[in-house]
Amino acid sequence: MKIALIGYGKMGKVIEEIALSGSHEVVSKIDVLNTRSDHIENIKNADVAFEFTKPEAAVSNILKCFKLNIPVVCGTTGWYDNFEFVENECKKYDGTLFHASNFSLGVNILFELNHKLALIMNNFSEYDIGLTEIHHLQKLDSPSGTAITLAKGILDNLDRKDKWVNNKDAAKTEINIISKREEKVPGTHTIKYESNVDKLEITHSAKNRMGFGSGAILAGEFIQGKKGIFTMQDLLKL
Ligand SMILES: NC(=O)c1ccc[n+]([C@@H]2O[C@H](COP(=O)([O-])OP(=O)(O)OC[C@H]3O[C@@H](n4cnc5c(N)ncnc54)[C@H](O)[C@@H]3O)[C@@H](O)[C@H]2O)c1
Repeated sequence: MKIALIGYGKMGKVIEEIALSGSHEVVSKIDVLNTRSDHIENIKNADVAFEFTKPEAAVSNILKCFKLNIPVVCGTTGWYDNFEFVENECKKYDGTLFHASNFSLGVNILFELNHKLALIMNNFSEYDIGLTEIHHLQKLDSPSGTAITLAKGILDNLDRKDKWVNNKDAAKTEINIISKREEKVPGTHTIKYESNVDKLEITHSAKNRMGFGSGAILAGEFIQGKKGIFTMQDLLKL
């Protein structure tokens, strides 16, 4: 694939490394720190764009890709309040978008376990739930997109909870997502069910960013020749 990187930060560089170790070519790198006109021009030659920037930039970058008729894989988190607008624009321009709050295989398996565990826990009201996410100090959004996806997965399946809150004293019907920021942590998520007598925890810890990058490349390959909006559920069929 001919690849355009929109956002050439930590994730843009990991995607480039994985792409170049395979049979792909990077034809364009667009970043606020790289405004070279040949790179901006070259995006038109890309088979796919990888958008990993920041929450405030993601929507307009996705729209630019729709307008240029370039399939886009978006990993940026924190823009989902605008999802309905993006969905309508995708239809309007007959565009292609693959989005995921987390591209790693392990986290997507965790999403499935999370659903199933919440369903089981419907029958065991003595357990209360805790959700914790830990990320590096530079992370801009809080709670993480992955933690929000996990919280929604619980809310969809566990009748005694109706809302998530972040770093607050939670009411009985709320899930408190605890967000911690620590040096050099790529991403750790823990779901905890605790009663007076025991504790059950599932944790996913990313060791580095390679799992996110290889999942994103798979997503880019998956959307070649397709139209519409796709997620990791379409790719992994879990
Ligand atoms: N979905 C996933 O699996 C996954 C994994 C890791 C990170 N992320 C998310 O991806 C995003 C980027 O993460 P990162 O660790 O690479 O961040 P980063 O800060 O290292 O890199 C972001 C880059 O985007 C550039 N940028 C900012 N605004 C831009 C714009 N308007 N146009 C072009 N470039 C712009 C910045 O200059 C920077 O180089 C974040 O939202 C993060 O939460 C998602």
